[in-house]
Amino acid sequence: MKNIIELKNVTKEYRSGGNTVLALKDVDFDLSQGESAAIVGPSGSGKTTFLQLIGGLDTPTSGEVFINGDLINNLKDDELSRLRNKTIGFVFQFFNLQDYYTAKENVAIPLIISGKDEKKALEKAEKLLGQVGLSKRVDHKPNQMSGGEMQRVAIARSLANNPKVILADEPTGNLDKDNATKVLDLFKEISKSGVSVITVTHDTRISAYFDNVVSLEDGEITS
Ligand SMILES: Nc1ncnc2c1ncn2[C@@H]1O[C@H](COP(=O)(O)OP(=O)(O)O)[C@@H](O)[C@H]1O
Ligand SMILES: [Mg+2]
Repeated sequence: MKNIIELKNVTKEYRSGGNTVLALKDVDFDLSQGESAAIVGPSGSGKTTFLQLIGGLDTPTSGEVFINGDLINNLKDDELSRLRNKTIGFVFQFFNLQDYYTAKENVAIPLIISGKDEKKALEKAEKLLGQVGLSKRVDHKPNQMSGGEMQRVAIARSLANNPKVILADEPTGNLDKDNATKVLDLFKEISKSGVSVITVTHDTRISAYFDNVVSLEDGEITS
């Protein structure tokens, strides 16, 4: 099956002042379309760096990153952002919703940015909110929702442009157990529908929810 994400011998160094931090060392990783993976590891082990490289938000110091078969190393900024917009959805620990907009408007934003007309964008946003179980919250603003609801709005938003992969950095880190379970259930459903999900998580129940579990330690994959 086709690899949606492929990393070959990827190393990432951060240089600041006279210091060099080796955040990832010779990492190899691949994931087929529709497969899911959980990345686990202690704080500072390189998890966020790994997701940023997979998502084309940053480029490796050496090695190769392929997104949907395209080698991103040589893409220009605008080519990379186009590939990112059509291929990848992002979900964050602190939801990153716009406070002044309703749930429906938050989900519509990426659609409007990619050129869909406003009315159609809002219609699709409502449909996506239905899929994450929030039909009754479409006109609520973030401060009128629970953390779990806000994260489901963010997941609906990540699905707006029909991505091939969802990348989530500690998406349950700010949720109680019940809401975390709802988010993990939703990711499982999303990956069953053929969209790959890669998530960084501390949740110890992960093996029931993801096809692959990858451990990172000091920038190296240990299993
Ligand atoms: N922009 C940066 N500049 C310098 N060092 C960084 C930067 N981002 C991350 N690091 C360092 O790289 C290592 C891995 O960080 P990170 O990927 O954020 O790990 P994790 O998400 O597992 O906590 C850490 O030592 C961190 O301090
Ligand atoms: Mg991190």
